[in-house]
Amino acid sequence: MNKWAVIYSSVTGNTKMVAEAIAGAAEKADIFQVQEAPTDLSGYDIVAIGYWLRLGQPDPMTLKYLPKVEKSRVVFFQTHGAEVTSEHAITSFARAGYNLGKDCEILGTFGCQGKINPVLLEKRKNAPADDPHGGTAAIERWKKAACHPDEADLAAAVQMVRAMEHKLVMRERYLAKKQKTDNSL
Ligand SMILES: Cc1cc2nc3c(=O)[nH]c(=O)nc-3n(C[C@H](O)[C@H](O)[C@H](O)COP(=O)(O)O)c2cc1C
Repeated sequence: MNKWAVIYSSVTGNTKMVAEAIAGAAEKADIFQVQEAPTDLSGYDIVAIGYWLRLGQPDPMTLKYLPKVEKSRVVFFQTHGAEVTSEHAITSFARAGYNLGKDCEILGTFGCQGKINPVLLEKRKNAPADDPHGGTAAIERWKKAACHPDEADLAAAVQMVRAMEHKLVMRERYLAKKQKTDNSL
């Protein structure tokens, strides 16, 4: 049975919702807010780290925590205003990855949109059209993000947990078989 640490950072609750769905679906899990998360993660088979995007990268508290994570098998989950398949969202996983401490392995990733804080929207609503946060495209993106995470996102997060657990079983099976073959050579 795999034991998960589910560690998340969330200001307005979107990433927390996904974290709870992941922890609820895992075979066994402890859940922590990033500011209370342990740095000795040796008791966990999988460490899921969830953050919200700020300036196209994990939020500041997560950026501070990531280098402390070492020798762990990591799953990243992120919520953001951008579209899930956007270059912006995908590059953010890479940014999370290269901030990890030493000897980690990235097992998988999951992302979904998350409604944007209305205070920020109020500030951005008069941004000029040539600003990345201005114009009709930005307004459309905010509208789309406004109903996320939704039930389908949470179901997809649960599905991701099953996929990661399956991936681990398959890989261990493959490695055991390979070891047997190597030994017989
Ligand atoms: C100050 C601020 C900066 C943000 N920057 C980005 C960003 O660079 N890219 C993005 O896709 N979303 C951005 N967002 C949207 C949040 O990442 C998104 O709403 C997220 O789901 C919030 O998560 P939380 O509810 O767990 O705090 C930003 C939100 C705030 C408040």
